[in-house]
Amino acid sequence: MTDRELVDNAKKARDNSYSPYSEYPVGAALLTKGGKIYTGCNVENSSFSLTCCAERVALFKAVSEGERKFTKIAVVSSEKKPILPCGTCRQALYEFAPNLNIIVLHDNEIKTFLLKELLPEGFTLERQ
Ligand code: THU
Repeated sequence: MTDRELVDNAKKARDNSYSPYSEYPVGAALLTKGGKIYTGCNVENSSFSLTCCAERVALFKAVSEGERKFTKIAVVSSEKKPILPCGTCRQALYEFAPNLNIIVLHDNEIKTFLLKELLPEGFTLERQ
């Protein structure tokens, strides 16, 4: 699975975005260690705080299907500037994959970030 293919899956998922309030469609495609792809789009609500980001939709779909190991996620909006996961999504993803590669587009060029660098000292419940 190339990064470009994962991005294409995220773009396809973006087509299903329900974002009438922000008019900011987002798509995500999460790759499991076993090579499966789970996609998501943002789903907004008239009670705004219920909105769920594309990344968490993809993550929760995957985890609810029994997946726990992930290698990459591609995230796309319709803007030229890259969209990087919000803080809430960073923490949600960190739970399962601190080493996750985050693939985004800048002017249609692929850029890769490492989750644990975007969320240094992310929270875990590990006790000493
Ligand atoms: N959104 C995402 O889907 N992912 C992010 O990482 C940031 C924001 C969505 C939420 C909302 O539907 C719209 O983008 C504008 O904030």
